[in-house]
Amino acid sequence: MRLEIDQHRLLAELETLASFSDAAPPAVTRIVFTPSDLKARTWLISRCEEAGLTVRQDAIGNIFARWNGADPAAPAVGTGSHMDAIPNAGKYDGVVGVLGGLEALRALQRAGFRPKNSLELLVFATEEPTRFGIGCLGSRLLSGTVSADAAGRLTDGDGESLDEVRRKAGLHGNLQDVKLPTGYYKAFLELHIEQGPLLERTQTPLGIVMSIAAPASLRISVEGAGGHAGGVLMPDRKDALCAAAELVLAIENAARTSGAGDTVATVGVCEVFPGAVNSIPSRVHLTLDIRDTNQARRDRVMQLIESAWQNLAAKRHVSIQPKLLNADAPADCAPEVRAAFSDSCRKHEVAFLEMVSRAYHDSLFISRIAPTGMLFIPCRHGYSHRPDEYAAPEDISRGTLVLAESLAKLSA
Ligand code: GLV
Ligand code: MN
Ligand code: MN
Repeated sequence: MRLEIDQHRLLAELETLASFSDAAPPAVTRIVFTPSDLKARTWLISRCEEAGLTVRQDAIGNIFARWNGADPAAPAVGTGSHMDAIPNAGKYDGVVGVLGGLEALRALQRAGFRPKNSLELLVFATEEPTRFGIGCLGSRLLSGTVSADAAGRLTDGDGESLDEVRRKAGLHGNLQDVKLPTGYYKAFLELHIEQGPLLERTQTPLGIVMSIAAPASLRISVEGAGGHAGGVLMPDRKDALCAAAELVLAIENAARTSGAGDTVATVGVCEVFPGAVNSIPSRVHLTLDIRDTNQARRDRVMQLIESAWQNLAAKRHVSIQPKLLNADAPADCAPEVRAAFSDSCRKHEVAFLEMVSRAYHDSLFISRIAPTGMLFIPCRHGYSHRPDEYAAPEDISRGTLVLAESLAKLSA
């Protein structure tokens, strides 16, 4: 079988998808179920139909595009990623795995491949936590990792529930039905940019992921007392932002001193109320994102952070209330998927690095229900979640080729 990737078309599609955005180029902002996201989804569905794939959407908006195999009742071999993008992001995160996955299927069609197991492109809905505060909702529901009730009740920044928002987007099905039946996938493969610098630094064209780090996130409310910025003297203050500032530094310190470079903690959101120059902050909302390759170490760091806020609350006479949004376990990638990737790399004499995924991905949740693997391509300076995110055309094509060959091997 002679597989050829249509790089020209793939890059043109990457550009088109980047144009469905609420930010000025090169930045991409595509928050789930906004008009830009809905346009991107409609466009993608038409590309899949043009490729002869049979498309369906579930109640959360996961898109499935299937190429039926000789044995359509047998478990499918899946590939895919996400298209939603955080504010001020780039054009490759997730999208490389969606459009690379589609091009991999088209390359196999052009080569005359006949799959035994059906091949399926899966575009996960709401991978990014921007709108509903928790990432990977599509894959959490597919794998039964979150209950349909809990997911449906999540609200966005305007107080609209996920159920209301998805219905407005035309998704009227029952969230209970999103969970995939046991044995739905024989294997699942996700192509993604590395979102870190190791492949570039070691000049290695591909990464085969061995395990995906364990992420957790919390929303922390700090409640103090407001008042006049001139009238309230310093000894009488219960400034919520000053307490939050100390907490942010305590979080940084807890991650830095965990004893392992794999522990990372980020406070990415800080909302201050009432947000007026002459008013003492009475309330602050922080979000904490904490990850590690080792779940026990991550949980120890979370305990340290908890003692830090208890001490701070007592010292500064404020109340600090955490809300745990998620605390997920890490995942190991499946040996058979890793072997399919490495066999293809060896065949093409492409060097690869076996590595950890420090970002989380829908594959973390799909790995709970199917043998799953991830293939990384380099991205410039390891940049991601920023407008200057960049992956070279030849790296995208190489990743797509190895993906296509691995899909073929697993569905033959
Ligand atoms: C996914 O976007 C992540 O934050 O790892
Ligand atoms: Mn992302
Ligand atoms: Mn991603």
